[in-house]
Amino acid sequence: MALRRIIMLGAPGSGKGTQAKFLGDKLDLVHISSGDLFREAQKNGTELGKLAKSYMEKGELVPDNVTVRMVVDHILPLKDEGFILDGFPRNLSQARALDRALEEEKIPIELVVNLKVPQDILLRRLSGRRMCRNCGEIYNVYTLPPQVEDRCDKCSGELYQRADDTEEVVRHRIEVYTKETQPLVGYYQHRGKLSEIENENDINVVRENLMRLLE
Ligand code: AP5
Ligand code: MG
Repeated sequence: MALRRIIMLGAPGSGKGTQAKFLGDKLDLVHISSGDLFREAQKNGTELGKLAKSYMEKGELVPDNVTVRMVVDHILPLKDEGFILDGFPRNLSQARALDRALEEEKIPIELVVNLKVPQDILLRRLSGRRMCRNCGEIYNVYTLPPQVEDRCDKCSGELYQRADDTEEVVRHRIEVYTKETQPLVGYYQHRGKLSEIENENDINVVRENLMRLLE
């Protein structure tokens, strides 16, 4: 049976969102992106959204207590379903908290996929990324342009550039990733859960590699 409790790891711009959306649709897994949840909270003007914005615009991590509660609250009702986590966990303390919560429910993570991309490619990808304001679909003016400029192929929503995709903030996000998130590669390797995939290639080739890994 295909694996159904998955984490996507990788640097900013490594393609976590792109591939997690694809796998979610294809394998009927719920896609949970902590970044998307924070952006949704901002759009709705909630206290959580305001708090998250003050960290996200600087490229800093939102505090662990807030983030862990938000994501675990989303996962637990999905006890009997599959899910794919994108952007969470992002440091060792989040990973340990997630393990504890899932072990209690007897639904441990089955696979962690680390997407590997050289840093110069990350910078170019993020400078060209556009997202749909309505449905969150991800595009790229260089590698994955929409059919009609600034309009989503799926829902015709308006495409926008994320506020944290400026070069200065992207560089800081990559530093935070290296310091805080990269140690998770060793954490999951040690637990025998890690697989690595090069994501420099054509998006469709990477999709096929991922499908093989999961089935
Ligand atoms: P988040 O939204 O998670 O951002 P991120 O980790 O920086 O990752 P990105 O969304 O930028 O990249 P991605 O890997 O999803 O790439 P994508 O698929 O879009 O987090 C934002 C902020 O929220 C954080 O900085 C933090 O403040 C806060 N936050 C979130 N989670 C948190 C947590 N757990 N704890 C604390 N704070 C948290 O692809 C990028 C571009 O590349 C796209 O344009 C795409 O079309 C293109 N592309 C993808 N794959 C390919 C390919 N193979 N070839 C060519 N182009 C490609
Ligand atoms: Mg993303």
